[in-house]
Amino acid sequence: RIPMPVDIYGEQRKNSMGVNFSNEDDIRQLAEEINAHKGPWKAAPLVPGAKIGKETVKVTDPADHRRVVGEWIGGDESVVDTAIGNAVAAQPDWDRVPAEQRAQIAERAAEMIEAKRGEFVAMCVREAGKTLPDAIAEVREAADFCRYYAGMTRKLFGQPEDMPSPTGETNRLFLNGRGVFVCISPWNFPLAIFMGEVMAAVLSGNAVVAKPAEQTSLIGYAAVKLLHEAGVPEKVLQFIPGDGASVGATLTKDPRIAGVAFTGSTETAWAINKTLAARKGPIATLIAETGGQNAMIADSSALPEQLVKDVMASAFGSAGQRCSAARILFIQEDVADRVIEMLAGAIDELKVGDPGLLSTDVGPVIDHEALDGLQKHIDRMNREAKLIRKARLDETVTGHGTFLAPHAFEIPSLDMLEREEFGPILHVVRWKSGELDKVLAQINATGYGLTLGIHSRIDDTIAYVQKHARVGNCYANRNQVGAVVGVQPFGGEGLSGTGFKAGGPHYMLRFATERVLTVNT
Ligand code: NAD
Ligand code: ALA
Repeated sequence: RIPMPVDIYGEQRKNSMGVNFSNEDDIRQLAEEINAHKGPWKAAPLVPGAKIGKETVKVTDPADHRRVVGEWIGGDESVVDTAIGNAVAAQPDWDRVPAEQRAQIAERAAEMIEAKRGEFVAMCVREAGKTLPDAIAEVREAADFCRYYAGMTRKLFGQPEDMPSPTGETNRLFLNGRGVFVCISPWNFPLAIFMGEVMAAVLSGNAVVAKPAEQTSLIGYAAVKLLHEAGVPEKVLQFIPGDGASVGATLTKDPRIAGVAFTGSTETAWAINKTLAARKGPIATLIAETGGQNAMIADSSALPEQLVKDVMASAFGSAGQRCSAARILFIQEDVADRVIEMLAGAIDELKVGDPGLLSTDVGPVIDHEALDGLQKHIDRMNREAKLIRKARLDETVTGHGTFLAPHAFEIPSLDMLEREEFGPILHVVRWKSGELDKVLAQINATGYGLTLGIHSRIDDTIAYVQKHARVGNCYANRNQVGAVVGVQPFGGEGLSGTGFKAGGPHYMLRFATERVLTVNT
């Protein structure tokens, strides 16, 4: 059993503060901070000594693609080669920097993220289409990851662990960085997940080459610039924008890398796994946090108002673009009609529109490709399932963006779904009293295991579901999104990821290697 490192700060560690939306002064101040930053923003490889190209990629606002948000220059094979060479050379010295010093850099970064809240929120809204509350939460989570992993750095890497010395020898166990890590992140948490992966890798003593999702390169670039300013050396943390098939694949096939920290789809994780297996060099660690086919189960004892509120947040919040989002509601037959009617009413109330307005509930989906894929699924559901409700779209507001009206469909069984549909589409399945095991079997049979919601006022049911569902994060009588760093360690199993959980006490161990010193005294 791995010794359980507790949070170094114990009860004293505080996550980043939110905004009180009922306080007008707080809102005014936030608006001023955000309005001071309208872009356009730029990004390019941050690789000392590399020859950077000139070709630019234009970034448009998902809420209105006529609006240009910025532009970026991508990397190529020679940039990747230079970056990995730099990283290999820089890593041993960085690994010897005292843990305390590395932790202080991360804490400084957390302060700086909070100080730049306005700009990061503006970028998350305009480049990633996040609503204001989601963008604020994103910035807070990025700062939380920095502080939490700073504490874990002290705890895990600060001192070697003394082992028993039965023969009079002293034995000490050291944790070190593995070498060069490639960090590849998704667009749906362009700051928080990007920062979380990078900081865990860097603080563990690795040198990192980070590749953001192509859709959110501007945010990734701003994050890396900030970390350099906070004190991470430029060759210890390098940045290469570009698409997955070219830059991502070139990075992961390099025999000099020691590991990959990846968050994204299960399909991409498979591709990376294959690439790593086919190359020579150290047996690389793959930390993959991937997709989900997440369900919420409700029995007839559930409180309908609470249930509907939590389904709405879990399925349609963030336009359904969370790996944790609920895709299927299993509702017990006795109460299904009533809950479905309430759900339809709640969908009618949704306001889909500009994510920069506080009155907006649901913003755009990330791009045309995502919209087309989701629309195809909706077309199929319209043919094969029963529509419960489609939310209203005001074309005068959404006409130039990639918006999708949230939909709910009733389907006979989960087997009808072919894959994770990464958007605001909910599927409702009725289940009969006495058939909870069948529901759990269907959920487990998907092979995914990320989040699960359970609404029941029967404690034994909650305990039973948690015990029998193979999922990483199970939430009872609340929504199933928005895990909090250091409080709800987050991540799945099976097709949903390798672990260890992000924002949890074991996560950094996967970035480390163990060494033992035995001294004959
Ligand atoms: P994606 O898999 O398309 O892309 C993720 C990253 O991988 C991007 O940076 C992309 O450029 C890169 N990439 C693509 N092909 C590659 C290749 N062959 N080699 C190396 N890199 C490659 O995912 P996405 O669309 O950006 O994000 C959405 C997905 O991420 C969803 O499936 C969602 O469930 C998942 N996700 C999971 C978590 C989690 O913590 N489990 C969190 C957020 C998102
Ligand atoms: N960590 C994110 C959530 O819990 C993905 O929703």
